[in-house]
Amino acid sequence: MSTAEKRVYKGVERGQQFEILVDGEKIVAYEGETIAAALTAAGLRTLRHTKKYGHPRGLYCGIGLCQECRMVVNGVPNTQVCQTLAFPGCRIETQQSHQKRQK
Ligand code: FES
Repeated sequence: MSTAEKRVYKGVERGQQFEILVDGEKIVAYEGETIAAALTAAGLRTLRHTKKYGHPRGLYCGIGLCQECRMVVNGVPNTQVCQTLAFPGCRIETQQSHQKRQK
């Protein structure tokens, strides 16, 4: 199934289409869409890895409560991508354990 087929199109009015970088790969996002929504549509499920065992974690609650969706967005770790809108030029990286902000 292609990325386009995973999105609902009928009855939905989308904003402008643009690309975002996820671990160096370009994916499509739309204005008004969260980063998590764009990742899900692109088939990307692993958002971070746990500190102790390095287990993959992905979207869980989708409403900003569980903290499972923390990623590095434009160098800022622990960004909850289910609560963050995608924007042109954003660079997203899978978060490795508990990354701290670079100084
Ligand atoms: S998925 Fe639960 S806080 Fe983002």
